[in-house]
Amino acid sequence: MITPHGGKLINRIANEADRKSLWQQSTTFQSITLNSWSLSDLQLIANGAFSPLTGFMGQKDYLSVLKDLRLSDGTIWSLPITLPVSKERRKTLSIGEMVSLKGEDGNVFGLMLIEEMYDYSKEAEALFVYKTLDQNHPGVKKTFEKEEVYLAGPITLISQTKTFSNEYKTPIELRELFQEFGWNTIVAFQTRNPIHRAHEYLQKTALENVDGLLIHPLVGDTKEDDIPADIRMKSYKALMKEYYPKDRVFLSVFPAAMRYAGPREAIFHAIVRKNFGCTHFIVGRDHAGVGDYYGTYESQEIFNQFTKDELGIEILKFEHAFYCTKCTCMATSKTCPHPRENHIHLSGTKVRAMLKNGQIPPKEFSRPEVVTILMEELNHNEKSDI
Ligand code: ADX
Repeated sequence: MITPHGGKLINRIANEADRKSLWQQSTTFQSITLNSWSLSDLQLIANGAFSPLTGFMGQKDYLSVLKDLRLSDGTIWSLPITLPVSKERRKTLSIGEMVSLKGEDGNVFGLMLIEEMYDYSKEAEALFVYKTLDQNHPGVKKTFEKEEVYLAGPITLISQTKTFSNEYKTPIELRELFQEFGWNTIVAFQTRNPIHRAHEYLQKTALENVDGLLIHPLVGDTKEDDIPADIRMKSYKALMKEYYPKDRVFLSVFPAAMRYAGPREAIFHAIVRKNFGCTHFIVGRDHAGVGDYYGTYESQEIFNQFTKDELGIEILKFEHAFYCTKCTCMATSKTCPHPRENHIHLSGTKVRAMLKNGQIPPKEFSRPEVVTILMEELNHNEKSDI
């Protein structure tokens, strides 16, 4: 099994036996309410997906991540994992205090020992992470909406929010499954979209050379006009049923929030998949990008500064894929000699507009089984943002 990032898989989930007493203790602590983004970070720190993190980041790690793409001990890490609270709230809290971490529903999910409370610059964070201050960028907008002070310290999880519980697997669970399947090499595929033919082409090209494929869709917070995760999950299952070999592909959810941080998020997505036991990770065109903020292949180029050894997971880079009407198959400019007029490719925005207007995207772009589900769900829920 591949070594987790930083050397060992973190487990900050309280033992069954301790849970009740921790929960009772938590009622005597002050509580902090986490939004859905922070709550998903909490779960992913606890279950080891964010190894080697054991809690929300302190200032030294935070600044080092922004400036150097590394934790302060030199381990590669590209995105801040932080817990914001308001300035007023800070005044009621002290260093060394235990707090309970609640969800917006009022339930207690975890505990944290406050080791640090620090101010940060939203401008600096936005510029380092997103490379822009433009608040039309969904990640930048979220940054400027955040509270002003970061709390840091180790966490313990006492209750898990298992969204999509059938497909929710922790890194330990996935690692065990891969062993059971006898898979030594596993390629992970990140997506926040329905799987279209170009995605399928990347996945299957990769699958020709590894033992198994993990389809690992992100199901945490996404921007409003992205297709909701529950609809996507239905479409993934329909696609897998018809077009994927059952014994070589596994579907499980990645319950993180989408940052839209392009290159930095590509590093994060790769490292986290290593923790889930994958040995290879697909990075195609404009990975984790939004609008025109990042170059088409910037999310691939950012990996050039790391050695294979320190990254640990192998990055499979793919050029822009399309269906070519002359080749009559999926291809990229590496494999197809024909001009653009022969290439069928639609942007996510275009597809969403087509679906909204009741137009069926061509089968060369998306499998009919996927389109049917997207259309049905749209008709059932006219308020949906598809
Ligand atoms: S992401 O924001 O989760 O990266 P998306 O679901 O669109 O977005 O893409 C999933 C993966 O497929 C990413 O690695 C992305 O770069 C890649 N990808 C999407 N469309 C194409 C395409 N037409 N050609 C090559 N790679 C693509």
